[in-house]
Amino acid sequence: MNESPSSYLRATADAYDAMAVVYADFARDSLGALPLDRAMLAAFADLVRTRSTGPVAELGCGPGYLTAHLRGLGLDAFGIDLSPVMIGLAREAYPDLRFEVGSMDALDLADGELAGIVSWYSVIHTPPKELPPYFTEFRRALPPGGVLLFAFFEAGDGPVEAFDHKVTTAYRWPIDELAGLARDAGFVEIGRMLREPLEGERFRRGHLLMRAEHHAIGRSPS
Ligand SMILES: C[S@@+](CC[C@H](N)C(=O)[O-])C[C@H]1O[C@@H](n2cnc3c(N)ncnc32)[C@H](O)[C@@H]1O
Repeated sequence: MNESPSSYLRATADAYDAMAVVYADFARDSLGALPLDRAMLAAFADLVRTRSTGPVAELGCGPGYLTAHLRGLGLDAFGIDLSPVMIGLAREAYPDLRFEVGSMDALDLADGELAGIVSWYSVIHTPPKELPPYFTEFRRALPPGGVLLFAFFEAGDGPVEAFDHKVTTAYRWPIDELAGLARDAGFVEIGRMLREPLEGERFRRGHLLMRAEHHAIGRSPS
């Protein structure tokens, strides 16, 4: 696929603007049935709280329920999303929380400003060749020791594969390949979780918990 960065971002924002209400109804209460996912979020919150009281960004926050969950875990959480309609819904549902329109590949944040970042199924629509700079940007926004949690559709032994997500084309990734991209940008893995699909889900889910360390370096030979 030969899509320019701006065209895929515009297409993703338009697709989520159009589907925002349907998506919000579907996703709002999803965490209640996902104990393993909640455990990863709780581990993330613990790790952030032990070293910082700084802000935590949920990047690609959609309708904001996960940002609210992070706030419930005691974090100073706010949300950023590409889709203005999603941000409108998030503000309406959680008027006490902060939500901003923006793209996670160009954050309007100072270097090291965040204590933690959660990307919960929000890089799934990014074309694979566009994804490495996202991790560089995540790393820039975190200080050394800052914590990153991301959730995605997993692809076993790979390769990375496009699929027909209900909103717009998405990609599933082999967990080792995604962990490698994060490592290249200066993250060190703390742990990972793979969850088998529940009834009604198509793919295995991957979660990676990482800590910011050095700044971006080339991938070391394996
Ligand atoms: C599958 S939804 C996930 C929403 C929410 N995190 C959740 O788990 O329900 C993907 C979200 O990521 C947002 N998104 C995709 N690319 C983005 C980007 N580059 N910057 C910010 N948000 C983005 C979309 O607008 C959409 O709201």
